[in-house]
Amino acid sequence: MEAQIQQLREEALHAVESAATLQELESVRVKLFGKKGSLSLLRRELAHLPKSERPRYGALLTELQRSLEAALSRRREELRSAELQRRLQAEAVDVTLPGRRRLLGRPHPITQTLQRMLEIFHGLGYEVAEGPEIETEWYNFDALNTPAHHPARDMHDTFYLSDELLLRTHTSPVQARVMEQRKPPIRIVVPGRVYRRDSDISHSPMFHQLEGLLVDRSARFSDLKGTLAAFARQMFGEQTRVRFRPSFFPFTEPSAEVDITCVFCNGEGCRVCKQSGWLEVLGCGSVDPEVFKAVGYDPQEVRGFAFGMGVDRMAMLLFRIDDIRLFFENDMRFLTQF
Ligand code: PHE
Repeated sequence: MEAQIQQLREEALHAVESAATLQELESVRVKLFGKKGSLSLLRRELAHLPKSERPRYGALLTELQRSLEAALSRRREELRSAELQRRLQAEAVDVTLPGRRRLLGRPHPITQTLQRMLEIFHGLGYEVAEGPEIETEWYNFDALNTPAHHPARDMHDTFYLSDELLLRTHTSPVQARVMEQRKPPIRIVVPGRVYRRDSDISHSPMFHQLEGLLVDRSARFSDLKGTLAAFARQMFGEQTRVRFRPSFFPFTEPSAEVDITCVFCNGEGCRVCKQSGWLEVLGCGSVDPEVFKAVGYDPQEVRGFAFGMGVDRMAMLLFRIDDIRLFFENDMRFLTQF
């Protein structure tokens, strides 16, 4: 019996020490102390011994049980702390590593420019209206008094989608659409994309315009002039002045092209303004009676003025950019500067 106890002790201690995980250790414990475990089996053998020898072996077994329990709990602690170490190492965060930067998005320079323009006109009492980029010949040309033989209707200038449909070449068709829908007074600005067959350093086949339209019982040319002068001052600074030059548009009469004092040289004359001191920025005029007729207004009853300007061109002046194509290349090195 003594030898059996000694053998169990050695085997059990070895099994406890070589358990590599808590699970393994648990199954060692069950094999020793479970109902059919080695210790229980030995204890049952006590019954076969002579009565006088039982206390001695009983005490030996009890002592074995205690020392195995102690070994088990020591080993359990070891495995637990090893496990903890492993996790701490695996989940360790190196707080000295440099952080990962998140790129912050921001509005495109054209969007920024447009927002500023809209804010100014909002302050002057204009509301925003919009219209479709795919437009009919009627709204883009006929309703705007642009006859069939007009050069702007040429395939060389306009993207046609079918005989009737085209990509609008300006935001002016929205003038006609809004007037058809509403009665005067009207005071709107119309931002949007427009398309022309043109591409070089200062022309992009898609660009942005902001259209303006005011219709009321009386709207004088001097009101138009005051409005655009106020806009130019707020957009480019108080020192900015405007100059009106006679021009022609089929849908306005009289018509004008408007220059502002060069933002690069303040009117002194430089390379950008070709030494003139002036930069052309928009077209405008009094609404032509033919346009009022086309939308069902009585030209005797109403007066109006309209203007149209390039948003991209404004952005180029505002941010001093000399190539319009930069806006559409989506080069982050360019875009993040604004
Ligand atoms: N639609 C004209 C253009 O694209 C600009 C304009 C708008 C002129 C309104 C007069 C009145 O060139």
